[in-house]
Amino acid sequence: MNALVDGFGRTVRYVRLSVTDRCDFRCVYCMAEEMTFLPRAQVLTLEEMATLSRAFVELGVEKIRLTGGEPLVRRGIEGLVAEIGALDGLRDFAMTTNGAGLVKYAPALRAGGLKRLNISLDTLDSGRFRELTRTGSLDKVIDGIRAARDVGFERIKLNAVILKGRNDDEVLDLVAFARAEGVDISFIEEMPLGQSIGHDRAETFCSSDEVRARIESRHALVPTTENTLGPSRYFRMADSDSRIGFISPHSHNFCDACNRVRVTAEGRLLLCLGNEHSVDLRAVMRRHPGDLERLKAAIVVAMQKKPERHHFTTDGDVQVVRFMNMTGG
Ligand code: GTP
Ligand code: 5AD
Ligand code: SF4
Repeated sequence: MNALVDGFGRTVRYVRLSVTDRCDFRCVYCMAEEMTFLPRAQVLTLEEMATLSRAFVELGVEKIRLTGGEPLVRRGIEGLVAEIGALDGLRDFAMTTNGAGLVKYAPALRAGGLKRLNISLDTLDSGRFRELTRTGSLDKVIDGIRAARDVGFERIKLNAVILKGRNDDEVLDLVAFARAEGVDISFIEEMPLGQSIGHDRAETFCSSDEVRARIESRHALVPTTENTLGPSRYFRMADSDSRIGFISPHSHNFCDACNRVRVTAEGRLLLCLGNEHSVDLRAVMRRHPGDLERLKAAIVVAMQKKPERHHFTTDGDVQVVRFMNMTGG
């Protein structure tokens, strides 16, 4: 039985839990170059994150995705993965990562019960990779993707945010890479969260329809009915097992079918990526340690605050001040 129904009749089955706001990269669409991160005491402990996960699963949540910042920079992450992986009732357990830590962590994550990985990869050119991530190394991420593939995750998906003039000429190369590596790939429209100097979103917006047209110049795309509970619309190609997804918050709004909430690293339950409405679950846990029923009751009540939709635009305006690393996307 799922107890999490919002005021618009939508059932919440999917929780995205940000385990840290820190990251070893500084992607231009996600963070400012100079960031200050949360003080340790404000961030949930791993025990608190495990408790929260248990509460959500007991309320009927079927899918948990760990996000960041970068989840693999959180010390002890493999222990949290093993705890969540052992929860009864969870059907899907996934992580979104920048991939740089996968050579080190992939075996422990898989052994702990993590089923799926989404790995960000926006370009195959190492100079551009450095420009877009400001600090990252492409080789390390490619080694990470291969390490993850070698330990046998149920599914690996690459995430590419496509930006006009920066990587939109690489769409077909990214598809070729995904096909050669035997993984899926999703193309994402950039969302206006936070603002970073020297990056003008009004200039770089590239719609999923444009990306799709580029792919269809080479590969016929057949829609699938597949549903990961996430926002991607998936397509297949005739001659490959790799799937192509499109995440189009601007051009194909998917708020009607929204089934997810987020928890920030400091324990704020965020009811929508594009709004600031939140409920402080850390306060509930710290005021009443060990009281799982009280925590669950607070979560059930919070569902009524979930807004109907986001109101993102593509004109370069910032609708939400919070940066993406605070929510994990
Ligand atoms: P799966 O479907 O489970 O593979 O996951 P996903 O694609 O939802 O997750 P991922 O963490 O890889 O996120 C990919 C992109 O989707 C990121 O840019 C997220 O910000 C975006 N995204 C995920 N959920 C939402 C949502 O509810 N609203 C909006 N606007 N974007 C979302
Ligand atoms: N718009 C869209 N996607 C973003 N991501 C980070 N910032 C943004 C943004 N402003 C993506 C990352 C990662 C996922 C968690 O979110 O590329 O794949
Ligand atoms: Fe780090 Fe991911 Fe943000 Fe890039 S998009 S800075 S890898 S959290």
